[in-house]
Amino acid sequence: MSFGALWLSYAYPSTVATPTGTVINSLFGTPSSATGGTSAKQKFYTVTETANHKTPSDCWLIVRGSVYDVSSYLGAHPGGRRVITDRCGGEVTSVFSQIHSNRAWNLLGAYLIGTVGTAPVSGTPVAAISTTSAVSNLSQKVIAAFPGSDVLKVEPQGTGYHAVVVSGQSLIDVVLNDQGTIVSQQVRDDEFEWFWHADDDEVQEWKDS
Ligand code: HEM
Repeated sequence: MSFGALWLSYAYPSTVATPTGTVINSLFGTPSSATGGTSAKQKFYTVTETANHKTPSDCWLIVRGSVYDVSSYLGAHPGGRRVITDRCGGEVTSVFSQIHSNRAWNLLGAYLIGTVGTAPVSGTPVAAISTTSAVSNLSQKVIAAFPGSDVLKVEPQGTGYHAVVVSGQSLIDVVLNDQGTIVSQQVRDDEFEWFWHADDDEVQEWKDS
């Protein structure tokens, strides 16, 4: 059974303060805009700004810290328009990664318009963690810390990362810093109970959401 997108349905209270001064782009590679320029990769958009582009005619998606305007691709999508239009303006890394081939990843590149975050402050170097390896490296670290666990999700949070882990009978929120070191963990019992008692249809809805 895949747990990949389950966390999306949780309305869990955040027990960890989100650090201020977020520079999300620092977690997903080093944008070259530190030296100025005008290409798509050098534009920055906040999550809130991206969320405003939520209609089929103006549909932006965030995948792995990059922003894509896929409005013109909807009609060509092999999976149909609806699965994308339901998510316009959203962060779709998890669902996109679970479904698509290399071909889709390559196609996606054509719709890149920028990076999530804010422009680096006056030449301050940002940490270089490669886009493709960051999440998988962090997942490995989390699994090593919780032997036998399943990592449901790793996502940027503040200046570090947030992971959700199933370990034994527990669902655990794990907070990592920007170096991938675990700085806190907190067991979440209530949603896990809910999960075990959910029927297959409810689990499927989670996955589809
Ligand atoms: C959140 C947004 C998206 C969702 C939920 C989604 C979902 C899906 C689904 C369910 C399929 C399978 C269709 C089938 O086999 O019947 C599919 C296939 C595909 N999608 Fe998406 N899609 C999304 C965004 C995109 C984007 C933005 C692109 C490219 C720019 C893309 C490119 C493709 C391609 C090329 C396929 C064919 C299978 C493959 O090569 O992986 N999709 N998608």
